[in-house]
Amino acid sequence: MALKQMIELNLDRVDPVNAAIIWKTPKMMTTRSSDGDVIANGFTSNSCKRLKDKVCIITGAASGLGEATAYLFASHGASLILADVQDQLGRDVAAKIGPQATYVHCNVSIEADVAAMVDTCIHQFGRLDVLYNNAAILFNDGPLVDMDIAQFDMVHAVNVRGVALGLKYGARVMVEGGSIINTTSISATMAIKSTDMAYTSSKHAILGLTKAAAEKLGPCGIRVNSVAPATMFTPMVIKAVQGTSLSLDMFAAMVEANRVLKLQDGLKVEDVANAVLFLASNESRYVSGHNLVVDGAHIVRA
Ligand SMILES: NC(=O)c1ccc[n+]([C@@H]2O[C@H](COP(=O)([O-])OP(=O)(O)OC[C@H]3O[C@@H](n4cnc5c(N)ncnc54)[C@H](O)[C@@H]3O)[C@@H](O)[C@H]2O)c1
Repeated sequence: MALKQMIELNLDRVDPVNAAIIWKTPKMMTTRSSDGDVIANGFTSNSCKRLKDKVCIITGAASGLGEATAYLFASHGASLILADVQDQLGRDVAAKIGPQATYVHCNVSIEADVAAMVDTCIHQFGRLDVLYNNAAILFNDGPLVDMDIAQFDMVHAVNVRGVALGLKYGARVMVEGGSIINTTSISATMAIKSTDMAYTSSKHAILGLTKAAAEKLGPCGIRVNSVAPATMFTPMVIKAVQGTSLSLDMFAAMVEANRVLKLQDGLKVEDVANAVLFLASNESRYVSGHNLVVDGAHIVRA
């Protein structure tokens, strides 16, 4: 069925006002609790500090899911290295958190940058307990036969090589064991018509890296897992939709129509950050090689 027809059919089944609310998520608002903890978007920090004494690196921390995870990890007592290529945004996130967070410029596709990011962490905090390989890029692609191979390589360099480099340099310094989490996607186990082929194949590869690394690093006490979100209206997705003929309202309506789990609003970055927190914390101490899907049962229909 043509994409346009699908959207039209789906639009019949949604309330467009409600759909628009989903993608018009307000900018992340941070406040502080009476203990001085950072609280993002009203998601309250848990009084139990689940990452107390843990040193964590988050890549892609300047925006979207990485940013939300940074606030949540900070509220649970973590010391943080926040890495990204959007330097001003990254510094702003670190400044909101305060002295327990440091921003570093790191292009995850460049080996020297990843090595330097881990070096900074060791230099500053003396250890690394949790590495969250989250940075990724997404483009729109055209027909398969016109595939832009340079763009395909760029997506794989950031999304796949970036994770491989994180695993290499992160595992080297996790001398007392640790937890590595990679962001996959529902696109790691299924092909979504509107998602570009380079991105889908890169997310499948990250799932493969997660499993292979869990097997190889298990003997060192290092757990490796991934988290697989469905669509969240982050800058990545908004930019990708803006590059198509769809309006954001139409896209949101399509997402809404395909939603299985009917909660008042759709998937939020904080929902996924909470899953990452579980995989980072000792509560998941025997969970490794797992792809934790946070999609409100979207893929059960695949
Ligand atoms: N938004 C969604 O619907 C969705 C769904 C499934 C999975 N994901 C995944 O979630 C993760 C976070 O994406 P998001 O939605 O928060 O998007 P986002 O664009 O808001 O955040 C991605 C961050 O990665 C950074 N980044 C890009 N290239 C980089 C590089 N080479 N080195 C370092 N940092 C780089 C960007 O500057 C940005 O800050 C990604 O892995 C993405 O594939 C997103």
